[in-house]
Amino acid sequence: MVRETRLAAADLILPLFVRPGFNLAEPVASMPGVFQHSVDRAVETSRLAFAEGIPAVLLFGIPESKDAVGSSSWSPDGIVQRALRAIKEETPELITIADVCFCEYTDHGHCGVLEGHHVANDRTLENLARQAVSLAKAGADIIAPSDMMDGRVLRLRHGLDDAGFHTTPILSYAAKFASAFYGPFRDAADSAPAFGDRRTYQMDPANRREAAREVALDVEEGADMLMVKPALPYLDVLRDVRRAHPHPLVAYQVSGEYAMLHAAANNGWLDYDRVLMESLVSIRRAGADLIITYGARQAARLLHEGWTE
Ligand code: PBG
Repeated sequence: MVRETRLAAADLILPLFVRPGFNLAEPVASMPGVFQHSVDRAVETSRLAFAEGIPAVLLFGIPESKDAVGSSSWSPDGIVQRALRAIKEETPELITIADVCFCEYTDHGHCGVLEGHHVANDRTLENLARQAVSLAKAGADIIAPSDMMDGRVLRLRHGLDDAGFHTTPILSYAAKFASAFYGPFRDAADSAPAFGDRRTYQMDPANRREAAREVALDVEEGADMLMVKPALPYLDVLRDVRRAHPHPLVAYQVSGEYAMLHAAANNGWLDYDRVLMESLVSIRRAGADLIITYGARQAARLLHEGWTE
């Protein structure tokens, strides 16, 4: 009766990895219960998730081919574009969020166009807009840029508006840290950088004030929804954003956070269901409206069964 924070399936967003092929669900070794799905299996998983009360999926693609600029990411027949069309046809009420980035599509694994050993910010912006418009045309309800180039929210807004997608919201990865907790994702999405790291475009984990500045810039540029990522190690940042902005606030419980809970549980050291639910409720308590989590379906099932802890 006096509980202050509640968790519901309606607060959860399920990330999905889509790969070429048919009837495939390739397990991701470092993320138990997570798969690279072929389009048909992603459609099926999306349908089930929606039936379990999860309102949205977040799509990542593993393309057939990669090149220096990541051009397969804006092809009308790109892997995510195909998945979007198929998911929307099967489950039209499910909200589709398309991640916008290049690291899964470039042969060097960086999140944009390279000039020497650096990502060229402004040249990448043009390609981001092409990718976002292509994804919107394929049926993406929300565009979620995770590339972390400066000025991308404004560039994407203009690109979407010019293509007639005035009503497509932008969910900005506003405070995204250069985190070692993304390790398992880079296996799942085959997106590890071939050299160097992402510290010229992602933030130093030590910087709370910089996070506030980055978020404020995205708000000025027109972000409709804001994200903090990772989640549990950055609850203070989440709290700051909650206080500073009225926007819908999303936290991303990333691959490493998920892998950690499973690894400990597999050793018999933690109770998976309990730590999953405790971490999700804590992320909500810190101020998140919505949580992107690989544990979304398990959490939804537990809630459906009347989980009260
Ligand atoms: C793409 C992207 C990453 C994640 C989401 N979008 C990886 C990265 O920045 O290296 C990580 C998600 C996760 O770890 O679950 N840039």
